Amino acid sequence: MTVPVGIHDITLATARYALDLGELARRFDVDVNKFYTGIGQRVMSVPAEDEDIVTMGASAAARLLERDGGPMPRTLLFATETGIDQSKSAGVYVHGLLGMPAECRVLELKQACYSAAGALQLALGLVARSPDERVLVIASDIARYDLASSGEATQGAAAVAFLVQRDPALIEIEPASGLHTLDVQDFWRPNSRNTALVDGKYSVKAYIDSLKGAFDDYRAHGGASIDEIDRFCYHQPFTKMAVKAHTSLLQHTGRPADRQAVADALAPTFTYNAEVGNSYTASIFIGLLALLDGDVDLTGERIGFFSYGSGAVSEFFSGRVMPGYEAHLHRDEHASALLARESIDYERYLTLHPGTEVSSRGDYTTAAGAGRFRFTGVREHSREYLDVERAPESSTAAEQ
Ligand code: HMG
Repeated sequence: MTVPVGIHDITLATARYALDLGELARRFDVDVNKFYTGIGQRVMSVPAEDEDIVTMGASAAARLLERDGGPMPRTLLFATETGIDQSKSAGVYVHGLLGMPAECRVLELKQACYSAAGALQLALGLVARSPDERVLVIASDIARYDLASSGEATQGAAAVAFLVQRDPALIEIEPASGLHTLDVQDFWRPNSRNTALVDGKYSVKAYIDSLKGAFDDYRAHGGASIDEIDRFCYHQPFTKMAVKAHTSLLQHTGRPADRQAVADALAPTFTYNAEVGNSYTASIFIGLLALLDGDVDLTGERIGFFSYGSGAVSEFFSGRVMPGYEAHLHRDEHASALLARESIDYERYLTLHPGTEVSSRGDYTTAAGAGRFRFTGVREHSREYLDVERAPESSTAAEQ
């Protein structure tokens, strides 16, 4: 009998501020239902000046490790497309902030919104080879588009952290997987820019074409038929994207495709993403968290996952919900991460948007926010971080 390998525990963190999309609708004189209903988004998380992918990732991972009784993970995979350095992995900063042992490999992975699903697959391989090992995966991103662009309403910020190990408490990931890679220019972010460039309508088409290709490959590699999959969990740049995608998949496989029925079936995966916005590589796992945290018993059900990263790499894979999973959920923690955000208006949001071009600010210090982990500023080209609970007077850089 093969030993199940998969996701043992998972949690999320998001940013300090929340901008209701009603603020954008008012500013641009657009019917708010274009956002609330048309793209299925209500609110976007907006980071404070002292927050970034490291602070969000550390915040999620700290909670995960603090409640975990197992051996320390020997691998930390950090998935992001909001890189803070061309050389050093953001995961190494998190490793330092969390005081993880030196006996650990740390890597950063990038391929748009796909990289956390890729990290999951690498983690499964590591555990299959060394069954006593555990892998910590962190996915952390800040989605930013130009002000007044069509993508602006689909910004957001969040991180997830999850542990991959044998005999997982939550989800066993099945071996079959379907892959699809195509060199397309639907969405990209040159090094000179803070904001992504996107061909919005083309990106939607590329997503759907990739889904069909990845699902066909999943089937060709022993994956379950569409009728044997109980739930679907999609990458959600905006929640309506998942509805469009699943409707197309049903048509592709010759099944009836009523859009309202699809929206209702996928809705349990939308509750968190509709409130945080696009969190790029974290988004599919935030969809999973919302599904698990919902009020339906999922025991034994098969979930089909579709991860899409523009550019474009995608994967369709599946997993089974483990018996007893409900005892390992942390619903209150996730609800309070969202509720703790402070609502801001459009004017305040403008002051937090970094603008299009990357500019060198030299040395600077950030204003202190309320989070446990802080990006405190830059000194001599070096980013500095602080764990307020552990080292109030020093930064990680100063400690090294
Ligand atoms: P747009 O072109 O401004 O919006 O932006 P639209 O005119 O297409 O309207 C959107 C929907 O709202 C439409 O519904 C309208 O009918 C509806 P649909 O026809 O699509 O079903 N609508 C209304 N509904 C109710 N009441 C109203 C109303 N008005 C209109 N009053 C676009 C849409 C997706 C282009 C834009 O949001 C965008 O550019 N987003 C960024 C790109 C993106 O998210 N692409 C998704 C696929 S690519 C991907 O997922 C990868 C990504 O995450 C990056 C990565 O991999 O790293 C982005």
